[in-house]
Amino acid sequence: MNQIAPRGKTDGLYDRVRHLVPEMEWETFVEDIRAIETLKRERNAVILAHNYQTPEIFHCVSDIRGDSLALAREAQNTDADVIVMAGVHFMAETAKMLNPHSTVLIPDLRAGCSLADSITGADVRLLRQRYPGVPVVTYVNTSAEVKAESDICCTSGNAKRVVESLGTDRVIMIPDEYLARNIEAETGIKMITWAGHCEVHERFTPGEIERMRADHPGLVVLAHPECPPEVVAVSDFSGSTAMMDDYVRDHKGGRILLVTECSMSDNLAVRYPQTEFIRPCNMCPHMKRITLANIRQSLENMTHEVTLDPEMASRGRRAVERMLAI
Ligand code: 13P
Ligand code: SF4
Repeated sequence: MNQIAPRGKTDGLYDRVRHLVPEMEWETFVEDIRAIETLKRERNAVILAHNYQTPEIFHCVSDIRGDSLALAREAQNTDADVIVMAGVHFMAETAKMLNPHSTVLIPDLRAGCSLADSITGADVRLLRQRYPGVPVVTYVNTSAEVKAESDICCTSGNAKRVVESLGTDRVIMIPDEYLARNIEAETGIKMITWAGHCEVHERFTPGEIERMRADHPGLVVLAHPECPPEVVAVSDFSGSTAMMDDYVRDHKGGRILLVTECSMSDNLAVRYPQTEFIRPCNMCPHMKRITLANIRQSLENMTHEVTLDPEMASRGRRAVERMLAI
């Protein structure tokens, strides 16, 4: 087998991901990583990577990493000319809303989301007619069109705070039925919701978690709030991907099961080698549309640029900025 000899900008990068990426595979990545570093400088570009991106993207080419909330904040604050979203389409739209003067690129237009696909702007207007006066809290995992019909957005990292900030006893919380039910259980505020589900998190079951606990004594279970309430009920902690990261950082070592997308454990294992991550996990096919090769193509050809109708973007921005102000 050829030994790979990282040079220049890839010096030391392989060490970060060595236990996750076989040497032979790394060899196919090196040229793209070098090209991406050069293109970033030439274009004054930044790469924002969601926690579910594969380790060679997350640890080797991204400039900003995090959950949906962190990526939205950073998209708002960056002075880069170009933002490449290594995430899914709704995240790129949110970045464009918050930073209309930057060129926002998504390397593969098929990087969607089952939650975002579950609801339209017309659906939100019908809900408002049916429940007049009840505020609409919209998960950021939605299209710009849906955000534009909303009073305020939320992420899984701030949903509880956002809902409580409204001071009402009833809220329309869309489109994730399970997130809404989980927040209802935490706050006691009545949720009118929608039958949208994350195709990754809806597949976890309480039985699977109980089997893992039996097989791995001392297991601590952290579940994403997009999981069904009965899964959250048998977990030790529930929170956004950034909250899971904080939990692992603050509770050094131990045996952890992250009930979420597969790359999350891989990425945290790089940062926290003293923690043992037990995996079953489910993969998000949309997040996995993003690759080093299409990030490189995206920067070479400036594709695929995300554009938004200015009037719709400005209404959606109000809902996102109202969330960011909390
Ligand atoms: P986070 O905001 O927790 O990163 O979640 C985003 C997402 O798409 C989870 O499926
Ligand atoms: Fe959407 Fe679920 Fe994939 Fe997140 S993990 S992008 S919610 S389908």
